[in-house]
Amino acid sequence: MSKEEKAIEILKRFKQDHVVNWMEKLTEDEKDKLIEQVLNLNIEQVINLYNNLSKTFEIENKKIEKISAIDIDKLEKDVFLNYKNIGENIIKNGQYAVITMAGGQGTRLGHTGPKGTFKVKLDNGEKYLFQIIVESLQKANEKYNTVIPWYIMTSEENNDQTLEFLELHNYFGYPQDKVKLFEQGKAPLISIAGKLLIGRNKLIKEASDGNGSIYKSLAKNDIIEEMKKNNIKWIFVGGVDNILLKIVDPLLLGITVSEGNKIASKSVIKRNAKERAGVFCKIDGKPSIIEYTELPEEMSEEVDSNGNLVFGDVNILSHLFNIEALQELSTKTLPYHIAEKKSDYLDENGNLINPKEKNVYKYESFIFDAFSYYNEMSILRVKREEEFAPIKNAEGNDSPETAIKLYNEKINKTDMKTFTNLPV
Ligand code: UTP
Repeated sequence: MSKEEKAIEILKRFKQDHVVNWMEKLTEDEKDKLIEQVLNLNIEQVINLYNNLSKTFEIENKKIEKISAIDIDKLEKDVFLNYKNIGENIIKNGQYAVITMAGGQGTRLGHTGPKGTFKVKLDNGEKYLFQIIVESLQKANEKYNTVIPWYIMTSEENNDQTLEFLELHNYFGYPQDKVKLFEQGKAPLISIAGKLLIGRNKLIKEASDGNGSIYKSLAKNDIIEEMKKNNIKWIFVGGVDNILLKIVDPLLLGITVSEGNKIASKSVIKRNAKERAGVFCKIDGKPSIIEYTELPEEMSEEVDSNGNLVFGDVNILSHLFNIEALQELSTKTLPYHIAEKKSDYLDENGNLINPKEKNVYKYESFIFDAFSYYNEMSILRVKREEEFAPIKNAEGNDSPETAIKLYNEKINKTDMKTFTNLPV
């Protein structure tokens, strides 16, 4: 069977005859590219997911319990300093690296270009989100007399733009040989009617498949091997859009090492039962994060004897992994969550259609779904005003306006000198 016959057989088997018809309208060169794509895509997986849409996350049969966290405010000073000391030694020994996840589309913010290229006007100057990250790294490098390797996860959609931007800005002064971009994975989009779409490039339309792509993408790009060769033992992973994210924190490191865990995260206290945020918990005995859309209402409102929310530790996308954990997780397959999105496409005559309503299902895996491969993880509950100022929406909650306000409040605060507030 020729490659073309094989591709046609696959498409017909999964009722994607419109793609076969489309193929006939292409030049030989375009057709060859489409055939290669069909042969390399896991169409079966996507169609199976589509056919089982209703059977995605089902909470009813699962046991959801509270997970314990260490509250930064409740640490005794000597314990705090001991943890910090353990972490500092790891950083000073050059065993620490940082990954920024920047492969998202940032649809809610609506900025054209990668989110890291978004600029905010702060009391200490106008800065791009990538620049804020570089400044944190530089501060830590100076303090610990090291140069922390910085990895940036991009996606096919934004990799070139990200690279161009960083080169244009000379990596904001960061040593270029310590910065590495790598592309995450992608998955085909599928229309609400179960059909693959054709994108502007005349191929089947694909999109980045969520930040859970990180584990396999690290391995695929030989980064885990490179880290091992360079004696990196601990890797911090954070989002691109929290302008108060503490990317170098010896305390989190020290706690994780002391608790003998391979993975860790930070949380902040949920503002109230209604806050739209994922919270830490144990599901069937394993550490997990449950999305606000998936947490039953009575559980989201449950309080303990002190009046605190039982499921009140919000995920702020501030994670730490041991290199062994990254290696182990790169061999695991994470579940796909499904989101409805709006996506343009070419119709059967090659006209670009811009739908007004959501028209596709997008498949995404989440970084935190991997936590449940472990029995335990460390969770450090930090102060929201110290470490969490996300930019998600163009306006309202978690917008540039709210984030800038939080950032300015922090840098202008005079009572920074309590021991838990020590800057990195
Ligand atoms: P979000 O869930 O906020 O998604 O990502 P987003 O794409 O940035 O924004 P919306 O939902 O389209 O408005 C949280 C973090 O995970 C990264 C993002 O770049 C952000 O740092 N991410 C998300 C990826 O790296 N890859 C993805 O496929 C999705």
